[in-house]
Amino acid sequence: MSDAWAAIREAMATARAVRHGAESRAALDAALAGLRRRDDLPPAGPALLDLVERAAAGPMVVAQLGQTLDGRIATATGHSHYVNGPEALDHLHRLRALVDAVAVGAGTAVDDDPSLTTRRVAGPNPVRVLLDPNGRVPGDRRLFRDGAAPTLTVGPARAGAERLELPGGDSSPAAILAALAARRLDVVLVEGGAWTVSRFLEAGRIDRLHLLVAPTLLGSGRPGIVLPEAATMDGARRFEARRYALGEDTLFDLTPAA
Ligand SMILES: NC(=O)c1ccc[n+]([C@@H]2O[C@H](COP(=O)([O-])OP(=O)(O)OC[C@H]3O[C@@H](n4cnc5c(N)ncnc54)[C@H](OP(=O)(O)O)[C@@H]3O)[C@@H](O)[C@H]2O)c1
Repeated sequence: MSDAWAAIREAMATARAVRHGAESRAALDAALAGLRRRDDLPPAGPALLDLVERAAAGPMVVAQLGQTLDGRIATATGHSHYVNGPEALDHLHRLRALVDAVAVGAGTAVDDDPSLTTRRVAGPNPVRVLLDPNGRVPGDRRLFRDGAAPTLTVGPARAGAERLELPGGDSSPAAILAALAARRLDVVLVEGGAWTVSRFLEAGRIDRLHLLVAPTLLGSGRPGIVLPEAATMDGARRFEARRYALGEDTLFDLTPAA
């Protein structure tokens, strides 16, 4: 029997085939039922299986943010390595391995120089999508030069990347997702930073939000999700929440309330 993580990746491949009409839903349901009974799932394994199930139904966007108890994703200087512990980082890399594409904003590429690979776990690297409409990310960033996976850019042409053409220059979350879906990249991880995740959330384009909360307080620093002001609690976003322990951290697996 293959290890559970390999079987989850296989199930995601089946979900992709179901989504594109090349595989029956029954085959996936049987695989998922078997997986849900296993006792060797990775931490937060049921959350990964929920993503697989959701991905069979159609295009899907999962977003993640690692934050402190007081909702900070980085210090005021932009230092964020690492908010979370190793188990949460492994979870992030599993998310990368399950999706077709991973998107980050320009601020993250400038501050963190991420490679967005799956180096902590087995599994393929996703296509990388850099949202950099002003071309302000320096050309020496890993995304442009490490060759670990293709890089698509929203913004001006860059060496080491391919431009994602957006009709009429519309760089709204909906337009970006449509352009990715046209390339059959329709299961997408929006990895950060906070500004980017907030804009996708505000646009109603996030199907699952994985908030990885560390038991730490910064008391200062860069905020996580920021949305237009709500005057009363009626304006708060509500979610169906499942919680999983990831080492010292807690994963809040959030589905927007209908
Ligand atoms: N803890 C975590 O999980 C985590 C994850 C990732 C990053 N981070 C931290 O987050 C910080 C960076 O985050 P941030 O919120 O400042 O910036 P960010 O979200 O990484 O980047 C924001 C910028 O990306 C561009 N962008 C994003 N979406 C776009 C869209 N739909 N259309 C056009 N442009 C778009 C815009 O660039 P322009 O400004 O050029 O218009 C925007 O200002 C860093 O400190 C990093 O360490 C933390």
